[in-house]
Amino acid sequence: MDIDTLRKGLALTIESTALDFLGDKYEGKVRDNYSRKDGRRFIIVTDRISAFDRVLGTLPWKGQVLNSLATFWFEETKHIVPNHLLSVPDPNAMECIECTPLPVEMIVRAYLTGVSSTSILTTYTKGEREFCGHKLPEGLKAHQALPAPILTPTTKAPHGEHDENVSREQIIATGKVTAKQFDEAAQYAMALFAHGQKVCAARGLILVDTKYEFGIGKDGRILLIDEIHTPDSSRYWFTKSYGERFAQDKTPESFDKEYLRRWLSEHGWKGDGAIPTIPDDVKIESARRYIEACETVRGAAFVPNQEPPAARLEQNLRAKI
Ligand SMILES: Nc1ncnc2c1ncn2[C@@H]1O[C@H](COP(=O)(O)OP(=O)(O)OP(=O)(O)O)[C@@H](O)[C@H]1O
Ligand SMILES: [Mg+2]
Repeated sequence: MDIDTLRKGLALTIESTALDFLGDKYEGKVRDNYSRKDGRRFIIVTDRISAFDRVLGTLPWKGQVLNSLATFWFEETKHIVPNHLLSVPDPNAMECIECTPLPVEMIVRAYLTGVSSTSILTTYTKGEREFCGHKLPEGLKAHQALPAPILTPTTKAPHGEHDENVSREQIIATGKVTAKQFDEAAQYAMALFAHGQKVCAARGLILVDTKYEFGIGKDGRILLIDEIHTPDSSRYWFTKSYGERFAQDKTPESFDKEYLRRWLSEHGWKGDGAIPTIPDDVKIESARRYIEACETVRGAAFVPNQEPPAARLEQNLRAKI
């Protein structure tokens, strides 16, 4: 995307929504969710950006980019698992089937990486050779591929708390998920990930790890819900530079939030205290990377809708009620 369009986007971001006619609102860090009594849920992907679990402001076109990526992947994987997507009424919105979410996030990992204190890389470096019940071989290096992708479920922590790693048995013991449901969702997660890796490989990308959420629909079927394979839920690396950087013990080049995270930490911010003001040029560069990511995955140019978003959203969504 050209720099003028990127710059123009700075004044067209969606920071919050007030679409009360849609239903009960639940505000996540990035998305505004409206659930209705008629079995539908509208998910509005705003332009908010979060890092280190805090909302930092907005990025031009980010919501449209993420919505377009999730739409692509829902289409691309619906032969593997049915999902909640009904329609895309607006470039920033999805109309979905309201489900009862399974209280577990299905995380699939294919590489020894991560930065948080509970990440697989951190615990491996400390000497642990078992992660969420998976035995890990000796001698793995940072950012190395695991012998095979592994499933590491976590509980869905209440707002503001950190998710915790749990085993299949612990989750089933809560009584909130049956063994059959867990195993079906686990199988889906592994199949989705394998397909995602295959599609990415053809585009010069590595799907490193990701998170899936599942829900139970009215008819008792398990559906894929939430979002899929966006840079907010997944880590992607570039295949081209991976080998060389790995050989030099360097962190792989990624197109997730790494750029902004690095800028923030270079400016002394690691998640606590006042958020530094992000200059427009940094926002633009960050947005450019999100767009490049989306275009690489989709294999098509990203063309943003440049209408004033608040009025457009309201009009498009009212038409659905
Ligand atoms: N089709 C659906 N039916 C019911 N709940 C859904 C559906 N799709 C997503 N959800 C749930 O809606 C919630 C959406 O929240 P959202 O992702 O916006 O914020 P969050 O998960 O609380 O925080 P974060 O911003 O860190 O992701 C999640 O708990 C998700 O499981
Ligand atoms: Mg979420």
